[in-house]
Amino acid sequence: MKEPVFVSPAEIAASKAAAKRVKDEVYDLGLTYHIESYGCQMNEHDSEKIAGMMEEMGYAKAEDKSKADFIIFNTCCIREHAEQRVYGNIGALKKRKDENPQLMIGVCGCMMQQKDAGRKLFKRFPFVDIVFGTNELHRFPLLFEEAYHGERTLQVRDMDGEIAEGLPVCRNSTFSTFTNITYGCNNFCSYCIVPYVRGRERSRNSADIVNEVKGLALAGFKEVTLLGQNVNSYKGDGETTDFPALLRMVHDQVPELKRIRFMTSHPKDLSSGLIDAMAELPRVCKHIHLPVQSGSSRILKLMNRSYNREKYLHQVALAKRYMPDLVLTTDIIVGFPGETDEDFEDTISLCEEVRYDALFTFIFSPRAGTPAAKMDDPTPKEEKNRRFDRLCDTQNRISLEIHQGYVGRTLRVLVDGREKEMLTARTEGGRLVRFAGDDSLIGQFLDVTITGCTTWSLVGEVK
Ligand code: 5AD
Ligand code: SF4
Repeated sequence: MKEPVFVSPAEIAASKAAAKRVKDEVYDLGLTYHIESYGCQMNEHDSEKIAGMMEEMGYAKAEDKSKADFIIFNTCCIREHAEQRVYGNIGALKKRKDENPQLMIGVCGCMMQQKDAGRKLFKRFPFVDIVFGTNELHRFPLLFEEAYHGERTLQVRDMDGEIAEGLPVCRNSTFSTFTNITYGCNNFCSYCIVPYVRGRERSRNSADIVNEVKGLALAGFKEVTLLGQNVNSYKGDGETTDFPALLRMVHDQVPELKRIRFMTSHPKDLSSGLIDAMAELPRVCKHIHLPVQSGSSRILKLMNRSYNREKYLHQVALAKRYMPDLVLTTDIIVGFPGETDEDFEDTISLCEEVRYDALFTFIFSPRAGTPAAKMDDPTPKEEKNRRFDRLCDTQNRISLEIHQGYVGRTLRVLVDGREKEMLTARTEGGRLVRFAGDDSLIGQFLDVTITGCTTWSLVGEVK
């Protein structure tokens, strides 16, 4: 991994100074913002940083998004569907902007970092005030200041990516949150756009991570998820600290934190050192999100995943041997170019063998600029849909069987919200549990006895 480039303290200070100038200008206007966030947790966390910068600029979160003075779309481009939704939602704002020219509109995130996408969007939607790519996040207040003064602003730089420390964060939860440990990705899986829009993989220094997590725990957070496209290849502090070492540091130096999670793990880098660390550290959740993508070694090779079916199954068996209660989840792409019936059957049989707790399933979506987008793809859409449904049916049966095995057990859960008349909570493995209770329990740990289940969740009672 190349040594990461850190954004200089002077640049961060310039950005903070711009935020202060905006705040001084707008402080008595009661302005509000609304962020539409698409995609993964990485994007969600970036949106929390945008919110932090908006608050530094004197804007408050809009209670009613239809009345917000600034609306920003933090976009995702991992699949075509995500892109179409964004275009539709931006287009729908034109009428509002015509009625209220004071309204400011921004678009940022992964989609804007694709070749020419930012420039095209800027031209196609002249009512959008500000467009920027993933490499400009820390410069947002500078760009916003220009736009606020009436100058439409477009900023997308094609570069390897840097690390910006010290940005303000306005977190969506008061008890469970995220922190980045790596940015970007070097794997270039043949279907994936991420390495092109998020730049080269770079690791934060361990001291910055531990300090942030410590601050969060002292502020009352109970659970922190360490985030990266591929956390297992973390190499911080001039490549001297690997991921198992970082996990031990966070665990040992932040005893106040009750749960430590991480995602995503790439199977090629899941080391026995990490399995040992997870098994040994009591406050590290026994959950691995380990995307397999396909059960066919032939397809895995075409995907450039650097492991085969046998190696993956071996790692799963090893992890389960050291952590019998391990919760395993995965991502699967159905209908990769050239996937045959036989390849697909390999995926089904792998799922039967591993018995995942949950699957995230996707139909292959060609992304311009990636090698897979140029591969011959003769399988008709209907056939891909059929395979997709069959995979979901298989997993639904397995999920229900696993869930039934929990009935009668008592599980420790962290209550995270309410859905209609039930509270929702998560087990250590991230399993959804629903039970009756009072809102005052949100953010608390509780022991819940499981009394029933569905395919999607467990149902319980507080002891
Ligand atoms: N088409 C379909 N699914 C994709 N993913 C990534 N790129 C694509 C694509 N082009 C899925 C992978 C990845 C998850 C985040 O999104 O399964 O693990
Ligand atoms: Fe995309 Fe592969 Fe990197 Fe994951 S590991 S972000 S799938 S290139």
